[in-house]
Amino acid sequence: MSEVVSYELIDNIGVISVNNPPVNALAQVVREGIHTAIQSAQQDESEAIVLYCEGRTFIAGADITEFGKPPQEPGLPVVLGAIENSSKAVIAAIHGTALGGGFEVSLACHYRCAIPSAKVGLPEVKLGLLPGAGGTQRAPRIAGVKAALDMITSGNPVGASKALEMGLIDKVIDGSDLKAGALQYAKELVGADAPLRRIRDITIDPSTVEEGYFEAARKQLARRARGQIAQDKIVSCIEAAVELPMDQGLERERELFVELVTSPESAAMRHIFFAERLATKIKDLPKDTPTREINKVAIIGGGTMGGGIAMCFANVGIPVTMLEINDEALARGMGIIEKNYKITVQKGKLPEDQMASRIALINGTTNYEELNDVDLVIEAVFENLELKKEIFAKLDGVCKQGAILASNTSYQDIDQIAAATSRPQDVVGMHFFSPANVMKLLENVRGEKTADDVIATAMKIGKKIGKVCALSRVCYGFIGNRMLGGYGRESQMLLMDGCTPVQVDSALEKFGMAMGPLAMGDLAGLDVGYKARQARTDLPDDPKLYRMGTVLVEMGRHGQKTGSGFYQYDPETRRRMSDPEVEAMIKDEAAKIGVEQREISDEEIIARCLYPLINEGAKILEEGIAQRPSDIDVVYVFGYAFPVAKGGPMHYADQVGLKNVYDKICEYRDRDGEQYWQPAPLLEKLAKEGKTFAQWGREQEAS
Ligand code: 3HC
Ligand code: NAI
Repeated sequence: MSEVVSYELIDNIGVISVNNPPVNALAQVVREGIHTAIQSAQQDESEAIVLYCEGRTFIAGADITEFGKPPQEPGLPVVLGAIENSSKAVIAAIHGTALGGGFEVSLACHYRCAIPSAKVGLPEVKLGLLPGAGGTQRAPRIAGVKAALDMITSGNPVGASKALEMGLIDKVIDGSDLKAGALQYAKELVGADAPLRRIRDITIDPSTVEEGYFEAARKQLARRARGQIAQDKIVSCIEAAVELPMDQGLERERELFVELVTSPESAAMRHIFFAERLATKIKDLPKDTPTREINKVAIIGGGTMGGGIAMCFANVGIPVTMLEINDEALARGMGIIEKNYKITVQKGKLPEDQMASRIALINGTTNYEELNDVDLVIEAVFENLELKKEIFAKLDGVCKQGAILASNTSYQDIDQIAAATSRPQDVVGMHFFSPANVMKLLENVRGEKTADDVIATAMKIGKKIGKVCALSRVCYGFIGNRMLGGYGRESQMLLMDGCTPVQVDSALEKFGMAMGPLAMGDLAGLDVGYKARQARTDLPDDPKLYRMGTVLVEMGRHGQKTGSGFYQYDPETRRRMSDPEVEAMIKDEAAKIGVEQREISDEEIIARCLYPLINEGAKILEEGIAQRPSDIDVVYVFGYAFPVAKGGPMHYADQVGLKNVYDKICEYRDRDGEQYWQPAPLLEKLAKEGKTFAQWGREQEAS
């Protein structure tokens, strides 16, 4: 046996135990251990074999760190073959999460049992992969084509009772003693002389699959794929499960799996998997930094953000007090929360009784005195520094000692806000994204004086409410919004230079952005940027700069809310449509200021919009605003819908090559001016050294 896999005989049952913390991933030693154990169990007096895992979970998948490295024997298919060919029944005993290769191991077993809290699933698609160890062939054979396709293309796991209903497992073990329950089940199977049920022996009747089903599935998946290539290949594999004998189906699956595992899309998605987890680690905070208890939360301001943030806490059972300026504003805020919950219920994502209990956790007030016992306050009032300082001074007066005082500000200086209190160590930024109850990112902002345990608590509570957390230092706009400046600017400059709005947005949407920047401007309201620009004194005096944004706002075209902006919108469906009037106006405006328009390629659109993100990202790294390049990627993928299949702006830059990015920025600087294009010193240095951001990040991590 290997160090991480042990084998023992308990009565007449052989028990293989895997112990490879933290998640029993199928590293080479695990594969080898299981393989050896299965073989030796064939030789002893055991009558059946239980495959069980120690620790918090059944095998949670292949070891993702091994992808991209030379393969090591035995491969997973060999191990699965040994299990399936065993002359004695092998019973998988599942707890925690049997995922990916882990669930595929269980599908090669002859029987599967699980405790009620267990989950099973094939989440490979979330890593840009498909199940590469028989999952696409075995799952449809026992759960049916449609259920298997839904499960594999969504990547979402199912709970034990649902898995039983779907035929993915055979038994739910009562109670929590899985090992005893699985032994009992194995003995029952032996006693009943149960057959060796091999899923590979099942054939799918092709007539059960309606004509055109796979084509329709492909089309539907392509619409939501956003640059991801795995879905289409998953459909091909399931098609193979219907049309081909098992061995050929497995071959097809392997072939397509290998294509995906070596693709840049999967590399990007695996990068994000690890980046998400790394972002929770704060470089100078010891792992055992204590955290403060958060049992009661207050939100100041029940507007767009406050309401959504309140829902995040109520959703995990934490009571919330929402404070507003008056009863009318409070009623409006509570109304929006109720409406949002009702939509969730209508979509079937929340049972009605749970909606009531969640709403009951949110209380409204207009009285600061009622906040004297809360553990965390999150301020989400208008974006105005003076107002925020006033509110923090008030909170300082009423909140108990040790309460964490957080601001959801998008841009303001957390240190100045903290200085309005007598306890700057308790002040932190907690920047949610709109809609706050939906968007995954929480950008926590560490002030100059924020205490370690306050940062640790902000990260921990973020995880508890289901957010992906990243940490930023203080600067105007923090990591995410600060980087956006050049993206928005160039999207409008491109119009002056000869693009139509459709051309700009389509190029970026083809790249994988959920929505192009101009359509996004229309959604957020063009007046927001207009007002923000009016307040700025640092913008170059250039008639080209934000010209169309300004012209449109001054015509009363503020975007979706006025029915038109860069586009026109169908009043009923809000569908966006190109607007010939805007296109003509762009030409006129360019002529007025003497800009000669030209043909612009998609490649240029992408470079001019995305390279400023990368360049600002490099400055953010140099200044220590972000801890590491991969944190920036996390911010962009989870907060700004940057395509996960591109791995975030810094990973994307590494793929393009930093020298190429640097050279283009220099070219644009020489053409369009230093006021817009100034290569970051770190980008220049890495480009000249032939390095990547990832390499630089690793070097920093090690130093
Ligand atoms: N390989 C390598 N490391 C893994 C891993 C895996 N499959 N799954 C998790 N880890 C690591 C994480 O990176 C993390 O490491 P860290 O502590 O150094 O940051 C640690 O295990 C704990 O992970 P989480 O923080 O995510 O722990 P949670 O308890 O929150 O979640 C989990 C546990 C649900 C299992 C989650 O980790 C997860 O979803 N893992 C990935 C599962 C997956 O995608 N499996 C399929 C892999 S591909 C495959 O199997 C191909 C096959 O078809 C051939
Ligand atoms: P909003 O205008 O929808 O809501 C603000 C709410 O604060 C209003 O309901 C108002 O009545 C209330 N309010 C104002 N003064 C108050 C006071 N003195 N006491 C109590 N309540 C008061 O604004 P929104 O969009 O929710 O923004 C709030 C904050 O969140 C801002 O700082 C903003 O920058 C930030 N933010 C906004 C995002 C967005 O997309 N809307 C995204 C991330 C952060």
